[in-house]
Amino acid sequence: MTLDDPAALARIDSHDTRGVLTDFPAQCRAAVALAPSTSGPLPRPRAVIVAGMGGSAAGGDLLAACATERLDVPVLVHRGYGLPTLAGAADLVIVLSYSGETVETLSAATTGLERRCRVVAITSGGRLAALARRHRLTSVTLPGGLMPRMALGYLFFPMLAVLRAADLVVVKDAEIDEALSGLDGLTRELAPGSPTAVNEAKRLALALGDRVPVIYGGPATGPVAYRWKTDLEENAKCLAVAGALPEMNHNEIEVWGARIPQALHVVLLRDAHEDVEISRRFTLVRELIARQTGVSEAWTRGTGTLARLLSLIVLGQWTSFYLAALRGLDPWAVPVLDSFKAQLADGSR
Ligand code: PA5
Repeated sequence: MTLDDPAALARIDSHDTRGVLTDFPAQCRAAVALAPSTSGPLPRPRAVIVAGMGGSAAGGDLLAACATERLDVPVLVHRGYGLPTLAGAADLVIVLSYSGETVETLSAATTGLERRCRVVAITSGGRLAALARRHRLTSVTLPGGLMPRMALGYLFFPMLAVLRAADLVVVKDAEIDEALSGLDGLTRELAPGSPTAVNEAKRLALALGDRVPVIYGGPATGPVAYRWKTDLEENAKCLAVAGALPEMNHNEIEVWGARIPQALHVVLLRDAHEDVEISRRFTLVRELIARQTGVSEAWTRGTGTLARLLSLIVLGQWTSFYLAALRGLDPWAVPVLDSFKAQLADGSR
């Protein structure tokens, strides 16, 4: 199919994922305006633990990536049941579940309450919203109706307000403004109305085609590489590999010296602010990979960390959308994931 045919895209995208992605800048603006249920300060924590899974945890990854260079308080992302042993009364636990029905995240909330952590809930409803009401937790109620991975704006920006209440400024107002205006321009460039000749996401999707995507980031963009992997897997239903330099130079690099039987395509997520040492590593890695398979590069745009990381995340969202379209698949639905959750809830096996 041609990605420039609106009727063909509409046939595959019956849930209007393209409309949700086009509205992403508006979603982010609405999310910036959301306030926690209780006003007033929160105690400055010893550590911030964001508990969530899948698309919700991605909000935590973005927060942790922005906080690395700014905060003297660690931000940990916990994916799983319960909480790490260190979590206690001095810590802030943000339980993040778009649906409010994710069992691992509900278990983290319960553990946080048992350990007398300061627990804040961010959700659109479900059992997590009910738990927050029952325990009078500080919470942020999100609009429903989206797929969690497409609600990243709602899942990320309210955490900035929660942390500000705890005297932790992760992203300054000017940096938020820069990120939001960058998203406007980028969305225009990547949306379906922008033809393949000038649309980076369409071109990347065509380069990936039916090959296995391998996405490598650097120190700043490593978490974004993981986000690309999960978006490609959920939206385009294709297995994807993610890694980060310099770590992959110490293990995965060996693969590129051997014969690789599968058809792959590599995307390097480059940061305009990356250190010269990292640039040298990317150059060498690219040369090595290019002996075996195709390589594309995608670069961050903007100045602040948030603008730069969001620019690549949005490119990944659109690339996975177009790849789903090329493969004739509905990017919205996740039938296997849904059926797996239903089997677990059934409890008969
Ligand atoms: O993108 C998705 O649909 C999943 O990765 C979900 O985010 C994950 O299953 C967790 O659900 P929730 O975000 O509602 O807690």
